[in-house]
Amino acid sequence: MKNLLKMSDLSPAELTHILDVADQLKADCKAGRTEPLLAGKSVALLFSKASTRTRTSFEVGVYQMGGLGNYMNTAELQAGRGEPLRDTARVLGRYYDCAVWRTYRQRDLEELAELSGIPVINGLTDYAHPCQVLADLMTIRERRGTLAGLKLCFVGDGSNMANSLIVGGLLAGMQVSCVCPPGYRPAADVLMFAQRYGSAFHLTTDPAEGLRDADIVATAAWNTTAPGTAESEQRLRDFVGFQLTGRLLENAKPDALVLHCLPAHRGADPMQPIRIHLYSLAVGSCHPFSLAPVPNSIHHSFSAPFYVHKQCCCSRWNLQHSVTFSFIYDTSLASNCVENVIDSLRKGDTKKSVTFHSHSPCSRSA
Ligand code: CP
Repeated sequence: MKNLLKMSDLSPAELTHILDVADQLKADCKAGRTEPLLAGKSVALLFSKASTRTRTSFEVGVYQMGGLGNYMNTAELQAGRGEPLRDTARVLGRYYDCAVWRTYRQRDLEELAELSGIPVINGLTDYAHPCQVLADLMTIRERRGTLAGLKLCFVGDGSNMANSLIVGGLLAGMQVSCVCPPGYRPAADVLMFAQRYGSAFHLTTDPAEGLRDADIVATAAWNTTAPGTAESEQRLRDFVGFQLTGRLLENAKPDALVLHCLPAHRGADPMQPIRIHLYSLAVGSCHPFSLAPVPNSIHHSFSAPFYVHKQCCCSRWNLQHSVTFSFIYDTSLASNCVENVIDSLRKGDTKKSVTFHSHSPCSRSA
C-alpha cells in the first residue's frame, strides 16, 4: 500500500512514472478509450474544507475510470459531531478501497492513513497540496517538453503550495527558487529536504532575485483570512512587494509560464490590480483536478498505486466550461499592463506573444 500524503512520499522515478501514466490516460481519454481501471472500486472523497476543482476532478475522474467516488462533507459525518478520527478511519477502511481527504492538519491525514488500512491521498492540508503540484508539473512538462533544468520560482506564502512545489520541483530535477516575505518561510522539514539539493534550491526575500531568469513562475493565494481581521490586515502589509506585478515578472524569462492554482480572490487584493487582471484571464496551472487512485487489489496491497488523471478529467471539463488551463505571459508586455493585452485580444490581435489556451474564457470574451 502506498499513500500520497506529501510530495516527498514519492521518489523521482515514481514522480516521473505518475506523470507518464497521466499523459497516457489523458491521451486515451481524448481518444475516447478510457479504461475502466477503477471498476468495482470505491473511493471516499472527504472534504473538511471548501473545494471546487479538486472535488470535481476526483468525482469525475473516478467516474470516468469506472469507480464509485463518494463525496462526503465531513461536517455531515459523525466526525462532525465529535466521533474520534480512529473510529471514522476504521469504518471507511472497511468499505472503501481508497480515501481522499482535504483537511487542515497534516497529522490528521497521517492518522487516517495509519488507522484506515487503505491508501490515502492528500486533497490539500495546511502543509501540502501534492495533487495540485503533480498537475502543475504535468502542465509544465506538457508545455516545455521537459522538467529537468528548468527554473521554477514560487512567489508568495511559504505554506502548502510552496512546500509541495519545492519538493516536487527538486525531485523533478528543476532549479527551484522560493520568494517569501520574512515570517512566511516554507516548513522547516521542506527546507531541510531542499538543502540536500545544494545550489538547485534558493530561498530569498528578494522577489527580483528569485524571479531572475525563471522559466516558470508560480504563486498562490496568500490571504484567505476574513477581511478586516487583524491577521488579514497584517498579511496585506506583509505581502506588499510580493505580488506578481508586471514589473516583477520582467525579471523572469520573456516566455515564462505563469501558474496559479486558483481559486482567485478577486477584490481581496486591492493593492494588486495586475494580479486581478491576470486572474480574469484565468491565469495559471488550472489543472486543479486530482489524482485518480488505482488500487491494485481489493486487499490494498500494491506497489504502483496512484496515477495522475487530472488532466484527463479537466480536458473534458475544459471543453464543457471553457476554463483555460494555462497562460503564457510575455513579460515584455507586463510593464504596459495587462490592459494592453486585453485590448489586443479585443481587436483580434493575439500575436503579441501572448498565447491563450484555445478555450480560454478571455479569448472567448475578447
Ligand atoms: N486548486 C485547488 O485546489 O482548487 P479547489 O480549492 O477549488 O479544489
